[in-house]
Amino acid sequence: MTVREILKMGDPRLLRVAEPVTEFDTPAMRALIDDMFDTMHAANGAGLAAPQIGVNLQLVIFGFKQNLRYPEAPQVPETVLINPVLTPLSDAMEEGFEGCLSVPGLRGSVPRHTRLRYEGVDQHGQPIRREVDGFHARVVQHEVDHLLGILYPARIRDFSKFGFTSVMFPELDPHDDD
Ligand code: NI
Repeated sequence: MTVREILKMGDPRLLRVAEPVTEFDTPAMRALIDDMFDTMHAANGAGLAAPQIGVNLQLVIFGFKQNLRYPEAPQVPETVLINPVLTPLSDAMEEGFEGCLSVPGLRGSVPRHTRLRYEGVDQHGQPIRREVDGFHARVVQHEVDHLLGILYPARIRDFSKFGFTSVMFPELDPHDDD
């Protein structure tokens, strides 16, 4: 088990556009994905993008049955998504609070597409194509933004809904959000 250091906002490596993955099922890729799951689980994360551990590849993971950081969220299948392409399925957007392991201790309300299709491949290079909505769609948009060098604060429109988790969501254990 290898928990990697998660880069924090201000690190220029979080602002790069990630490169496509071209090799699958190699020992290096398997080790990277294992480390990402160990790192995400250790931090109670809902998702993690490779750039957050300093690896500039188009690779994200997400999913949980129950999440301490988002106790109200419905379950999302545990997924490895590589070289993703997102297609909104309507013009509808919705606001919802997000946090980020690279922006510890803070939450902000971010507008996201309500419904979208995501396509890409899994860790074996097998195609993935899903149509999702709600929190699942939100998580995918948040993680794929990391591949574009975008952190969620850049998406906030209403800064009255951006602040410390401990102040806005005192019911959440702050240790789950650092
Ligand atoms: Ni994030």
